[in-house]
Amino acid sequence: MNTLLIQVASNPADVSGMDELLWRVLWQPIGLPRQVRRRFLVAGEQIELVAKQDDRLVGGLVAAKTADAEIELRHLAVSASERGRGIGRRLVEALIREAASRGCNRVHTIARNSSAGFFRKLGFRPAAGVAPEHPAFARHGITFELMEMMIESAGTGQARPGLRD
Ligand SMILES: CC(C)(COP(=O)(O)OP(=O)(O)OC[C@H]1O[C@@H](n2cnc3c(N)ncnc32)[C@H](O)[C@@H]1OP(=O)(O)O)[C@@H](O)C(=O)NCCC(=O)NCCS
Repeated sequence: MNTLLIQVASNPADVSGMDELLWRVLWQPIGLPRQVRRRFLVAGEQIELVAKQDDRLVGGLVAAKTADAEIELRHLAVSASERGRGIGRRLVEALIREAASRGCNRVHTIARNSSAGFFRKLGFRPAAGVAPEHPAFARHGITFELMEMMIESAGTGQARPGLRD
């Protein structure tokens, strides 16, 4: 069976598996240290989702509720061998449902230039503000764009949709 499940990272194996995947995909290739994710931590309740294919962890997403009605998508990675199969889309769509169920009306992100096209496909648009610059990323040709998606909040969140879809 090729069942893809999107779930909250709720057990230690998922949490550490996702931490490893994020590092391998996002930061190891540009020479950043293993613990660098801590430096990118922002305040706010953290939301961590994993994508599992037949019990293998193939994708992960980290977001934070940075304001009353806003969620920031901080990190997103899909295993290199599993890209182009809709896993990234499913993770972001699950986050958007989660954001709506929490009464949020905006999901925003700092997109890498290499993934901005992916976010545009999903309906994100350029957001106001100045994107950060980071020499460690710039050395590898990585620049950033602020992007956002306005969403319809589900109100009180009482009818919270499940993450499995
Ligand atoms: C960006 C990433 C998460 C996309 O995940 P994915 O599972 O390969 O994407 P999907 O298969 O869900 O793609 C959804 C759509 O976006 C398109 N797409 C995917 N990656 C794209 C990219 N880098 N640029 C432009 N379009 C892209 C797909 O073609 C697909 O379009 P379609 O619906 O018309 O078929 C994945 O490529 C990845 O992990 N990249 C490296 C890490 C990274 O850049 N993370 C984001 C940091 S901001």
